[in-house]
Amino acid sequence: MARFLVTGAAGFIGRSIVADLLRRGETVRGIDNFLTGKRENLVGLEGIEFLEGDLTDPFVCMRACAGVEIVFHEAALASVPRSVADPVGTNRNCVDVTVNLLEAAREMGVRRVVYAGSSSAYGDTPTLPKHEEMPEHPLSPYGVAKLAGEHYVRSFTRVYGLETVVLRYFNVFGPYQDPASYYSGVLAVFCRKMLAGEQPTIFGDGEQSRDFTYIDNVVHANLLAAEAPVERVSGQVMNTATGFRNTLNETFRILRELTGYRGDPAYAPARPGDIRDSQADISRAVELLGYAPVVDFREGLRRTVEWYRASGIATKNLVRSRKRVRRGASAAPALA
Ligand code: UD1
Repeated sequence: MARFLVTGAAGFIGRSIVADLLRRGETVRGIDNFLTGKRENLVGLEGIEFLEGDLTDPFVCMRACAGVEIVFHEAALASVPRSVADPVGTNRNCVDVTVNLLEAAREMGVRRVVYAGSSSAYGDTPTLPKHEEMPEHPLSPYGVAKLAGEHYVRSFTRVYGLETVVLRYFNVFGPYQDPASYYSGVLAVFCRKMLAGEQPTIFGDGEQSRDFTYIDNVVHANLLAAEAPVERVSGQVMNTATGFRNTLNETFRILRELTGYRGDPAYAPARPGDIRDSQADISRAVELLGYAPVVDFREGLRRTVEWYRASGIATKNLVRSRKRVRRGASAAPALA
């Protein structure tokens, strides 16, 4: 019987948490419906008990939670622009799924749920850095959905006594992040394109900034959140980030050095729902979890570029897109 359940186990963040748990010798169950998760992300995770299933089905949630002590809830339909295009799908895969999972966790006697929140809950409030006491002003449907999930999570602590911790992730990046979708995170897209010698596009003037957080920091925070004493952390919301921020223009320049790309970026109009600046105050996670970032932005970027280079993803996608062009097919929307 598995001690841990990771939802969204075939996604970028879920698979990274699973890998760390396995390294520690833990028993892990993973679940994914492959809506955005990838089967190839499960390679190397053969030690887990894997369920293919959709958490919009309450019975699937019950099966997933049976016998488990701690849940890391990573499953979601990420992306601000995707939520702008499909708010209903975002709501279903972020909010409905979370309520179903919490209800199953309660019924099946799960002790603790660690929830993947999002910095998008803060929205476009000008205050920097963002701290957890601030009123949230989510702008995109994605931000609203992730915040609604947080409220459900905290309600299940107050009303039913389920132990919960909310970690508000800030722009996570690193190995295994899908670089090939229009909705992919910017750093995955830029790494793929620049390694393939393609010109990346910056939406807006490039002076927007983000607290880009390397995946190892997020995995570290999750493990701390699972282990921390209940009286200290249950029902709490904590930023999970580095506490710094970089503009896209700066980031492009660092990536140019790391990838060897020689050109300039293209600029296009800002995306609707996009926020300007984001930077976390991480003092609450430091105080309550003993959290500290383990890998800084530049080192994280270096490792990420090396991973994409070694995985050959950039060149594979390049070959695929060239074949499509030769066959006369129209440009695939799946390739950003
Ligand atoms: C938001 C959340 C983040 C969450 C993510 C989930 C905020 C501050 N952050 O990220 O915590 O994990 O949603 O998807 O709300 N961009 C380009 N060129 C591209 C792609 C993107 O310029 O090819 C720009 C975007 O317009 C944006 C920035 O890069 O200004 C970051 O975009 P993205 O990586 O999609 O993440 P956020 O929307 O910031």
